[in-house]
Order: sequence, then C-alpha cells, then structure tokens
Amino acid sequence: MTARFHIRTYGCQMNVHDSEKLANLLHHAGLRAADSEAQAELLLINTCSIREKAEHRLYSDLGALRSWKAGAEGRVLGVGGCVAEQQGASLLRRFPHLDFAFGTHNLRLVPSMVSAARQGVRQAQTGESHSLERFDLPQRHPAFESRTPGRAFLTVMEGCDMFCSFCIVPLTRGREISRPAASILSEARQLAARGVVELTLLGQTVNAFGRHDLRRGRAGAAGALKSFGALLGELARIPGIERLRYTSPHPLFFDEALLRAHAELPELCPHVHLPLQSGSDRILEKMRRRYSAREFIGIARRLRAARPDLALTTDLIVGFPGETRADFEDTLAVVREVGFVDAYAFKYSPRPGTKAATMDGAVPPDEAQQRLEALQALQRGLTLDAHRSRVGTETVVLVEGPSARPRATASDDAGASAPRQLRGRDPYHRIVNFEAGAGCVRPGALLPLRLVEATPHSLIGASLDSAGAPT
Ligand code: 5AD
Ligand code: SF4
Repeated sequence: MTARFHIRTYGCQMNVHDSEKLANLLHHAGLRAADSEAQAELLLINTCSIREKAEHRLYSDLGALRSWKAGAEGRVLGVGGCVAEQQGASLLRRFPHLDFAFGTHNLRLVPSMVSAARQGVRQAQTGESHSLERFDLPQRHPAFESRTPGRAFLTVMEGCDMFCSFCIVPLTRGREISRPAASILSEARQLAARGVVELTLLGQTVNAFGRHDLRRGRAGAAGALKSFGALLGELARIPGIERLRYTSPHPLFFDEALLRAHAELPELCPHVHLPLQSGSDRILEKMRRRYSAREFIGIARRLRAARPDLALTTDLIVGFPGETRADFEDTLAVVREVGFVDAYAFKYSPRPGTKAATMDGAVPPDEAQQRLEALQALQRGLTLDAHRSRVGTETVVLVEGPSARPRATASDDAGASAPRQLRGRDPYHRIVNFEAGAGCVRPGALLPLRLVEATPHSLIGASLDSAGAPT
C-alpha cells in the first residue's frame, strides 16, 4: 500500500513553499498526500522561530504527538524548518518519539531520512550549504496538487545577509544566495505550461536577487548578469504569465531597474509589501535597518510615482528595546503618512543569538501590548478607508476557492440552500468575497467583478452582470 504523508506548516511563505517542495519530493519518492493526519503514516512539521510563541508551539505540538506516533505501527515523525535548523539533535534528545530533524538547506535529504527512519535510524541533518544544488529540485509530480491552482511560488533567492538586530532569519536560513536566472526562468515556463497565471517570487530579501554576482562582476551560474528588475522583465514575457508578485523586499534594494519595472510592466501587480519595522530613526538604527524614516517615505513616494495606484503593506515591531513613547508616536506618524493598506504588527520578541537580545531597555509587556493595540486600531481605520475608496470600481480576482467565512445572512437557514461564497485576490492582494452564482467558476480562473461593499478585512464583489449599470 502506498504510504501517506501529511505536512503541518507554520510561519512565512518561504515555509509554505518549502512544504510544497517537500510534498513534491515525497510524491517522487512514491508517497501520496493523506486526507488527514489520522490517516498519515508520515507526519512532517515545518517550523518557524521568528518569535518565541511560534517556537513554543512546536514543543507543545511535539508533546501532543506522542499519542499520534503510538496510534499505529510504523508511523514516522519528522521536524524541519527554522527551529530544526537551530535545535536539530537536541530535539531528538528531548523528544524520543521524534524520528528525524532536517534543516532549511536539507529538504532533498528527507525521502532518504524517511527510509532510514523505517529501519530505526534516528538522525538530524542540519547545517548550511553554500551550494546552488539546493535549487535543483524535481519538476512538479503529476500527482502533486497545488493548494491554489493558477498560482505558484517561485524561489529566486534564499538566506539573508542583512542581520537586522532583532531577527533570527540570518541564523536559520544562512547566507544570501541567488538562484541562477536560467533555472528560475525554466521553472516559470514549466509552471505557465501547467496553467499557472500568477507567480509570486520568493526570497528573504527578494529584491537583493543577483546583487552579490553583480557586485563581483561575476556572471551567476546563469551565465548572465541580471538585476531583479531585469529578471521581472523576462518573467513577464513568458506567455501565460499574467501576474507577477514578489515578497519580501528590503527597502534598501529598490533600484532604478525595479522602479522602472513597476512603471512599465503591466503584469507586475500594483502591490508591494514593504517592511517598515519602526518609524523612529533612533530605533531603526538600533534595529540595523539601514534607512531613516524619511528615506523609507522617499522610497514609497518613488514607487507611487512609478505606479500611482500602488498599494503598500508593511510589517511593524512595537516594544523594541529602548523604544520610548515618543519613538512609538513616530511609528504612528509614518504609518499615517504612508497610508499603508494593511500592516502586520508584532510585539518585539527577543531571539537568542541576535544582537537585540542583549540590548537593555526592555519595554514592559503591558506597555508593549498597549502600543500594539493602538497601532492596530490606527491601521484598521486606514484599511477600511482604503477598502471604502474602491467600492463602485471594477477589479479582476484570481479565484482561490471557498471563502474562509461564509457570509451569514438573515435568510440563511440550514445553509444547504445558501449561495456558494467564493474568495479571490485582486491585483492589490486584497481578498474579495463573492457569490459564485449559477456560472461555473473554477479556482485559478481570473474573474472580473464589481466591488460593492467594504469590510475591515476584505471587499465584497459581485459579478458584472448582477452588479452592473443601474437599472
Ligand atoms: N520580534 C518580533 N517581530 C519580529 N519579526 C522578525 N523578528 C521579530 C522579533 N524578534 C517580524 C518583522 C518581520 C516579520 C516577518 O516578523 O516585522 O518583518
Ligand atoms: Fe530578518 Fe532583516 Fe533579513 Fe528581513 S532583512 S529576514 S528582517 S534580518
């Protein structure tokens, strides 16, 4: 009987994509996806350590999985991702029912680790690889099913050399390395041939792509020097690719070529996730972000000059060591001035091994919580304003599937006769919920809609015929 696997994924889009790569590797090794964890013989946990809470979740998960492991003969349990990269062998010592741990550069070893585990071998494979080999992964297996047809992630670089003082990523993902452009373009063509219309380029500092090769005047393994902007131009020319996105950029690497790409490429979506972190120059310096608040605002301006309808979203940290009330007010002021469409705000969480973890001036938890709530309240208002300003306009969504939360209406009874609620993403990366109506709307399709209502988290759309011109 074919062995079945399940993967639990925590953390960022890099992790989500690593789980896709793992699933594909396992398909090539002859395993198939299980419908649930209960039916799986192999369970992998792809972990995140960006904040303490995420890391602790793994420990409680692993404790609870003792009964899963004991539930059937021959079950195999593996842990990967950022926590495994740092904790590797110590996880095996602490959790005797864990079969193996694999680091962020060792995805390709997982099928052989599964076979070894079946023979009773427990092992940890971590440690950094500086080789481009990690980008050599097999093509999509025919049995591999994408969670969202029509859309795919595409790795263009990995690792991070920025060493922001709060961030664990340079320690878990290793040094910055760009994937050869020829390999990126070839994967993009294969994806397009399989019906993918939207590509999201991934990298920890995605727009730093190629910079080490360019600076050294060395053609990357691609055999051609390419900036990130030039790469976008080539991807946009691939027939079938209608939308391009990228995440996450660093504000430092918006060069002329990238700004020009935003001005000139209709395929490049008018949305940039641009992490600000703080609006205080004093804190930005302590964070080692390498820009001032004014410089950040300048980049936002230049992006909007290139693409006037551009939507900006951001990441923010409150309660960084030494952050005063005045520093925090500076953050509120920059958030207001830039007018982000959305923001992910976090309370600072000290990460062992980072520079900031040794800094004085811890902000009391209650104060950090208050700042978080004030920031979130400000952003909620900005998000709702941005959504409201779009009501009455048309957009095109990439259909993802059923809405997360069906919209309850007073006339809903048992739900069986309720109209089917679907969700999609518009070019600005906003979620749009809509009723499927009688027509057949398949996930992955690009569907024009009229926006009829704004909510704090999403927009509501209606098909153009039903919401069309007033009668
Ligand atoms: N504490 C809180 N937030 C953090 N982030 C990264 N490291 C930390 C930390 N130690 C946030 C940053 C980053 C996002 C992915 O997570 O805002 O952009
Ligand atoms: Fe972390 Fe800074 Fe690198 Fe982003 S740029 S991954 S915040 S160190």
